[in-house]
Amino acid sequence: MSKDKINPGKQASRRGKYTGQAHGKIILIGEHSVVHFKPAIALPLMSTCMEATVEANGSLSSAPNFSIDCKYFSGNLADAPGNLSNVKSLVAILSQQLCRPQGLGGFNIDISSSIPQERGMGSSAAVAVALIRAIADYAGVVLADQEIFDYTQISENIAHGNASGLDSIATAHDKAVWFERGQELKVFDCQCPGTLLVADTGVKGGTRQAVDDVRALLYSQERGLARKAAEDIDRLGQLTEEAAQALSGGYMRKLGYILDEAQDTLSALTVSSPELDRLIDAARQAGALGAKLTGGGRGGCMIALVPDDNPGSTLLSVVENALRAAGARRTWRLPLHG
Ligand code: PMV
Repeated sequence: MSKDKINPGKQASRRGKYTGQAHGKIILIGEHSVVHFKPAIALPLMSTCMEATVEANGSLSSAPNFSIDCKYFSGNLADAPGNLSNVKSLVAILSQQLCRPQGLGGFNIDISSSIPQERGMGSSAAVAVALIRAIADYAGVVLADQEIFDYTQISENIAHGNASGLDSIATAHDKAVWFERGQELKVFDCQCPGTLLVADTGVKGGTRQAVDDVRALLYSQERGLARKAAEDIDRLGQLTEEAAQALSGGYMRKLGYILDEAQDTLSALTVSSPELDRLIDAARQAGALGAKLTGGGRGGCMIALVPDDNPGSTLLSVVENALRAAGARRTWRLPLHG
């Protein structure tokens, strides 16, 4: 962070509330293979929101005190449970690097969210992005996108282990992103005649375990298993390239086939689950062009592609109803245009 990024207008007063926001995300295609340096495409789910607010509590900059109020815990941040250890570390680093140089002390944090947790919607990355933005605002510092990403990754690596960075990027951008580890990010407008229906199985996802299990397959001592896993990861990379072409040409039927094959490939990598399979089957039978899990899998959410060319768009409701009848706890509509 360079000195010219310090916003002088914010130096005089630290009274009041400083707010940062982020949103949920959906991985269209490329989960798991993205960890192994293949591309992935993610879309913002702007109908879900994470908001973090910080307010000075008067504690000294030499011995700052932090409290947090969120769905899981209310009280001193130092006493927060293990599932908030990413937030604890992030606050300690941001306080040290952004607030103390300004002579600023501790603060109280309030988190409110409409992003379901552990459902593959990027809730842990979104809380980090929102908090980083709120604390930067409190410190009067303007952070570059890369700095927000780097801080988010500190939190994500605590929450998920070896996180690819896809969630950190996707929850901070309000456009579709093409992401490949170590490569320049591409952000694009999606203009396709279709809508993704997102459905929650109601079962917590198991991203960390699923990522570990895929790695174990790739490095298995059984050469047949390892070779098959490597082929699956390569195939997911190719399907992601094909999905980008289908998106740019507006070829919804082709995109449906691609999503279906991605689901088969993810299943072969053992990251689907009976609950996901049930919703995916129901969506296909009700007329969706394709369906797959989204995110880490083993629970969490699935997506189904529905074309917009249906008069009155009754197909959307038909598929939505079929998903609910098959056990979906909640559904969201994510139009692939505008
Ligand atoms: O379950 P989510 O939303 O955190 O998505 C995880 C995506 C993975 O590719 C499985 C892991 C990663 O770090 O990219």
